[in-house]
Amino acid sequence: MTEIPEHLLKRSRDRRAGGSGDAAPAASGDSTPAVPTAATPAKSAPKTEPAPKVAKPDSPVVAAARARRKIPFWAMATLSLLPVWGFLYYLAIKPSEKVVEGPIAKGIEVWGGCAGCHGGAGQGGAGRILYQGEVLKTFPHIEDMLNFVYTGSQAYASAGIKVYGDPDREGGAHAPLSYNGNPMPQQGEKYGGGLTEYEILGVVCHIRYDLAGADPKDEKWAAEYEHWCSPESEIFAALEGGATSFDKIADDFKAMMPPPNAVGVDPRETTAK
Ligand code: HEC
Repeated sequence: MTEIPEHLLKRSRDRRAGGSGDAAPAASGDSTPAVPTAATPAKSAPKTEPAPKVAKPDSPVVAAARARRKIPFWAMATLSLLPVWGFLYYLAIKPSEKVVEGPIAKGIEVWGGCAGCHGGAGQGGAGRILYQGEVLKTFPHIEDMLNFVYTGSQAYASAGIKVYGDPDREGGAHAPLSYNGNPMPQQGEKYGGGLTEYEILGVVCHIRYDLAGADPKDEKWAAEYEHWCSPESEIFAALEGGATSFDKIADDFKAMMPPPNAVGVDPRETTAK
């Protein structure tokens, strides 16, 4: 394309011709020692000398090839972080274990004693259907369900209470002994049942939030879940530690909760006290 001025070509030729004896580094770097035409015949002998030198500069290539077969530098760095990564993984797993602590974990244990009548998933059997929102229709407020499971349904019948739970229940209110005439056996200790109050809270939480499908994230249930059923539930902790009881909670709650959350009819107030 562009013509190279003759004087430059000449200078180039002169340089190659003049310095080829000890210009090996330049030549090897150039990798085209055969280009000059004038110098080749006379300098054939010195050319054999650079040849071994050229072979030696090859050794970096070999070394590079060897280096390539090794584990790359960045991989070593990454691998050396494995223990750290493993520890972070362990920390990440830990909170998920936490989720099953508290009332619901306790409830899962206790549920085995209910499943025989109510079905493993709460689908019903000798006892009423609990799953798919059914029990939530009966007991929009957890307090009423706690009372019911505590005393069983015979206590309601004996106290002359016509309906348990929500009287305006979607699908019809539930009257005691209205399910094939069989009672729901009492569970609370004061009624001769085998469960402590924190165990009853646990199983009720498990039924509501695992089986019946109440969503803790739903605005409708969030406050109840937080208060009674979350792993951080202070009520559960206080019941478990003996610092409070259902009776005390009932009193406290009547004062604390606004009317829509008022506790329904409690047979313990009309009978066992
Ligand atoms: C021997 C069988 C039996 C066992 C065991 C049993 N239940 Fe029941 N359950 C019943 C019957 C029967 C009813 C209906 C009671 C009635 O109509 O008076 C019922 C009703 C209920 C209801 C009311 C449901 C509604 O919507 O009306 C709840 C809640 C309940 N049981 C929870 C439990 C829990 C929690 C346990 C275990 C701690 C349990 N049950 C163990 C037989 C049983």
